[in-house]
Amino acid sequence: MSRRTANTAVSVHPLLAERWSPRSFDATHTITEEELMSLLEAARWAPSAHNSQPWRFLVGQRGDTTYRRILATLVPGNRLWAGNSSLLVAAIAAERPENGTRHAGAAYDTGLAVAQLSLQARALGLHTHQMGGFAPERLRTSLGVPDGYRPVSITAAGALAAPELLPQELRDRETAARERRPSAETFFAERWGNPLPLAP
Ligand SMILES: Cc1cc2nc3c(=O)[nH]c(=O)nc-3n(C[C@H](O)[C@H](O)[C@H](O)COP(=O)(O)O)c2cc1C
Repeated sequence: MSRRTANTAVSVHPLLAERWSPRSFDATHTITEEELMSLLEAARWAPSAHNSQPWRFLVGQRGDTTYRRILATLVPGNRLWAGNSSLLVAAIAAERPENGTRHAGAAYDTGLAVAQLSLQARALGLHTHQMGGFAPERLRTSLGVPDGYRPVSITAAGALAAPELLPQELRDRETAARERRPSAETFFAERWGNPLPLAP
């Protein structure tokens, strides 16, 4: 069990319970080619409506141009820590691809692909942290994302480092208790708002 394992009401798979979003990444860690392929393959095999696979990814490894360009799109609060990650992956939803049909659920499917990448990262002993705090138009311009494709998130991935290595303002958040809304306010039956009796 890691220091931030979810305090779940009932047992869930360790890959899920031990996934959390760190900010302290090891700036000396590099991802192997095999690990990288494994993360991307996990994303590629996600389910999607009509198997439309409306996801695309821009993949940067620390030190390369793609990484620098993705990093530069992050809001300052994210840029503060994300530059120590080994990998920055921008997830793009194909909402209106050139020759395809309009896909209203593209972002939903793209999120599933990122979820699979995140869990595969855990299986490899790595961590991920998704971010919505970035400038999509800057990403579009600096990396040539065409119209009809919407940048939806950036995921930092890498190896965990000690919370003490973070700037003071981020340190407390790194070790704070992880919380979730109660099940009774999340799972309903019979009528909206009526708690599912069996829910944990
Ligand atoms: C779509 C999405 C966008 C997010 N954006 C940010 C972000 O910009 N900056 C950040 O520090 N965390 C971001 N997060 C991380 C969430 O804050 C985090 O997942 C949530 O607090 C739950 O914590 P946990 O992942 O450790 O369980 C984002 C997560 C998701 C899924």
